[in-house]
Amino acid sequence: MHQQLQNLKNEALALIMQAENPQELEDIRIRYLGKKGRLNEIASAFGNLASDEKITIGRQFNNVKDAISDALNSSKFSSANTQVAIIVDPTLPGIQPQVGHLHPVTQAISEISSVFEKIGFTRVRYPEVEWDWYAFTALNMSQDHPARDDWETFFIDTPEDPKLGKMILTPHTSNGQVREMLRIKKPPVRMVNIAKCYRRQSDVSHVPMFHQFEGLVVDENITIVHLKGTIDHFVKNFFGPNRKSRLRPYHFQFTEPSFEIDVTCDICDGTAFLPDKSPCRLCKEGWLELGGAGMVHPEVLKAVKIDSQKYTGFAFGWGVERSYMMKSGIKVDDIRLLYGNDIRFLNQF
Ligand code: DAH
Repeated sequence: MHQQLQNLKNEALALIMQAENPQELEDIRIRYLGKKGRLNEIASAFGNLASDEKITIGRQFNNVKDAISDALNSSKFSSANTQVAIIVDPTLPGIQPQVGHLHPVTQAISEISSVFEKIGFTRVRYPEVEWDWYAFTALNMSQDHPARDDWETFFIDTPEDPKLGKMILTPHTSNGQVREMLRIKKPPVRMVNIAKCYRRQSDVSHVPMFHQFEGLVVDENITIVHLKGTIDHFVKNFFGPNRKSRLRPYHFQFTEPSFEIDVTCDICDGTAFLPDKSPCRLCKEGWLELGGAGMVHPEVLKAVKIDSQKYTGFAFGWGVERSYMMKSGIKVDDIRLLYGNDIRFLNQF
């Protein structure tokens, strides 16, 4: 009987594997497991067995039965596996896929580009892995100038170029000024270079990788009035129509005169006080600092072989993340949140 059960099992499993449709599978089930099926035929002979044999054969019988029904259930034609198709109700509403959106910094970059493109600036891109000469020397910062320390630069461990110096990660976008003037050769130049910048820094208002946008206009008769007009255009179109700007004297090696640009605070509307007369905690006397700007230094024009007697220009370089955080209604008080990749934070924008 032991051999008989073994043969029956092999036979049934082989047939299940060869079955080609649900009907064939059902026939196999009836033939082997049905009331009058082959297994029950064998069971009817149990009465003739000795009692110790009954135990071992009984166990084998159950194993064979289980193996056949498992094989039937896991066949691809089993009703357990075809049920899905049967229960689909095509009249039910579908499951909406989640729709993503651009990262807030990417949104800010495209908004900034379009604000400047409207007044004739061209968006340009230059390398983030750059030579010292483009990022410092050509911008009127000699090798040992202390101003270089302000940029907390990352240096790349490669041999120095005899003319261009060390290889670095761009600590600001001002290298774009030099590269664009060299490319255009003869003014007019009107560019906005938006790129990644890298510095050794990390706190609530600094991250090691961030973005800047650098504007440069060089032509005949360009004055501070053009700079101020361009700043106002940006401030009103990017931050909001009620925001104002001011120039504060400052120092940069690559501009003369140089300024820091301030924008009126969104929280206190530039008054330094809240409606309940308490002092505004976000700004300094109603103003928020946007970034640097100035009139292109004649030494910079000389480095790129543009005649500084004939041409003048203005430039500015501001942080994308910083500007975005200063936008009306955006209440992000820690720049690092922008790069935490927390979907709950990003979904708000
Ligand atoms: N490159 C400067 C920085 O990262 C910002 C800057 C200041 C850019 C004055 C300019 C400028 O183009 O004219 O701090």
